[in-house]
Amino acid sequence: MSTMIKMVRSFAAVAAVAIATPVFAAGNAPHIEREQWSFSGPFGFYDRGQLQRGFKVYREVCASCHGLKQVSFRNLAEDGGPSFTEDQAKQIASEYTVIDGPNDDGDMYERPGILADKFPSPFPNEQAARASNGGAYPPDFSLLAKARAAHRGFPWFVFDAFTQYQEQGPDYIYALLTSYPEENPACLGEDFTGNYNPAFLGGSVTAEACAHEHLTGGPIGMAAPLSDELVEYTDGTPMTVDQYAHDVAAFMMWAAEPHLEERKKIGFRVMIFLIVFAGMLYFTKKKLWRNVEH
Ligand code: HEC
Repeated sequence: MSTMIKMVRSFAAVAAVAIATPVFAAGNAPHIEREQWSFSGPFGFYDRGQLQRGFKVYREVCASCHGLKQVSFRNLAEDGGPSFTEDQAKQIASEYTVIDGPNDDGDMYERPGILADKFPSPFPNEQAARASNGGAYPPDFSLLAKARAAHRGFPWFVFDAFTQYQEQGPDYIYALLTSYPEENPACLGEDFTGNYNPAFLGGSVTAEACAHEHLTGGPIGMAAPLSDELVEYTDGTPMTVDQYAHDVAAFMMWAAEPHLEERKKIGFRVMIFLIVFAGMLYFTKKKLWRNVEH
């Protein structure tokens, strides 16, 4: 048998298996819309007011489950961030209790936070976090906005390189927070008492009855955390789920990438330098070769 026929045969075998395998979640990847962010594009910057509001949402709603362990209180007062004054950051730190020690007796002790401390985690360890959340683990927010991104298949990722699209993380977080349906899909059945979210990347619907419903996302171990008027804004910004979701996603982006503004500024200067340098090389080359026949 020629190799050609062998190849065709094995291909047919693989295709047959692929067709026979029932696909529930595969192929139903959540579609994540792109949002407007002040920090997108080459001149992107964080909106200070938005970061401060996002921090408020984090602190009053999300912090009971999600940690922020890589961020220090002093970061809140640094340039390129929420830009609280140092006194405000000190005040915020002092409202947290951190565990320090050991003292001279070898004991750990509690004290109010100071600027140099990192945000204390809401749970002492992962097991405790899971035990309080029905087995699901609320991930730490420090890097989450960078760690989660909907995969944008070909050809989108090629365009993304040129359009400098880097906001997949906050787009996903916004989509997740705003996509909880009023009611769970009926095909999941009466017995399903959990939460379903069509944007959740970590879930897949395995219920047989849903096989033909083309559901995206899946069951998630977090109930919808936001509702209108939940967090009080004093600057007149609308107190809606939509606004909270934008603000907290922006705050999480800052937590994951506190030096974004600096990175973009340096990138821009490098581009200018390269353009000028290319021009200089061109004229140097012209001058050097001006008397040479070619
Ligand atoms: C009562 C606890 C609780 C609160 C409050 C809470 N979460 Fe969660 N969150 C969870 C748990 C548990 C998970 C893990 C879910 C899973 O893996 O099924 C999670 C997961 C997430 C994820 C990750 C989803 C993924 O793709 O893995 C994001 C993003 C998130 N939460 C954002 C938020 C935001 C923003 C807030 C505040 C507005 C918030 N959460 C409030 C418990 C909570």
